[in-house]
Amino acid sequence: MIRYGVIGTGKITEEFIIGAQDVDGLKLAAVYSRTERRGEDFAQKFGSPVVYTNIESFASSDIDAVYVASPNSLHYEQSKLMLENGKHVICEKPITVTPEELRELECIAEEKGLVYMEAIMYLYSPARELLINSIKRIGKITSAHFDYSQFSSRYAQYKRGELPNVFNPKFAGGCLMDLGIYCVYPALDFLGIPQKISSSAGFIKTGADGYGSTIFDFSDKQVTLTYSKLAQSYSGSQILGDEGTITVGSISQLQNIEICRHDGSRATICGYTPKTKLMGYEAKAFYLYITQREAYRHKYNYARGLALDVSEVMQNIREKCSILFPKKE
Ligand SMILES: NC(=O)c1ccc[n+]([C@@H]2O[C@H](COP(=O)([O-])OP(=O)(O)OC[C@H]3O[C@@H](n4cnc5c(N)ncnc54)[C@H](OP(=O)(O)O)[C@@H]3O)[C@@H](O)[C@H]2O)c1
Repeated sequence: MIRYGVIGTGKITEEFIIGAQDVDGLKLAAVYSRTERRGEDFAQKFGSPVVYTNIESFASSDIDAVYVASPNSLHYEQSKLMLENGKHVICEKPITVTPEELRELECIAEEKGLVYMEAIMYLYSPARELLINSIKRIGKITSAHFDYSQFSSRYAQYKRGELPNVFNPKFAGGCLMDLGIYCVYPALDFLGIPQKISSSAGFIKTGADGYGSTIFDFSDKQVTLTYSKLAQSYSGSQILGDEGTITVGSISQLQNIEICRHDGSRATICGYTPKTKLMGYEAKAFYLYITQREAYRHKYNYARGLALDVSEVMQNIREKCSILFPKKE
């Protein structure tokens, strides 16, 4: 049995715990929260036996693994503390802010024989394999457009003059880090590393990027990425080949995918899967990487390599757009 703890008591942690309930062999065993009240409420709701408000005590407790879902800028130091204490780590996206941080933590994990992975739902969904196979059926790809524009539920707080973490550069917030990453991931996963990257972003008063777009140029194709937290898109994403087109309703979750071929045929590749089920797939991968290391080494190494490529491309985009985060105090 892998006994895991959670850092962060937001909605996403609830969804992970519900998803992980589908995985035999994973058991919630501890909650870390900055406040006892919040930790107790959370632990009671999900049946965790222990609550910690001291992160060092949580790190040195007898749990085997940790799910990290705190604000972005805390991922590095919290994951590092957990790895140094011998815990396997699955961390929410973005796994770290910079590729340098990611490389450092990869080394610690490798030295200690621990699993350290980014919680990227689509990567573990069966829909990914279906999509990869469908991409082979649309001929030569010359363009693709990945969009994730979702009106933020926290925009109202920002408009009231508050500063939610997701719009706070101090926490490495902003649209690219929150939503843009979901466009960068499949672009690199399905189409490879671009030769040239162009990008620009629009900023809100907090200094965070509220929306942006990026062009990936390859020798034989062009991929455009658009993302916004200030507006809602309904048009989805597309991969265009000379024999057909694939439309993807949700690029972050690989939902509602269709293939339309130039011969007039049209077929649904996959429909809707609840988010908690998708999170269950990533929780299952985490469990299998821990318990069946050799059998899953190839998949694990692929995910690690992709995470690093994504992190490097994200840094490149940030530099091009002057998306800046203050140095940690
Ligand atoms: N995979 C997905 O679909 C998905 C969806 C949403 C978010 N995420 C990712 O999940 C992470 C958390 O996002 P979120 O929107 O839940 O963030 P959040 O609400 O700002 O914070 C998450 C939790 O972190 C703790 N926290 C908040 N502010 C903190 C601070 N100043 N210092 C230390 N801890 C703090 C809080 O737990 P306590 O009060 O209990 O300490 C809070 O519940 C982000 O990295 C985000 O990218 C992923």
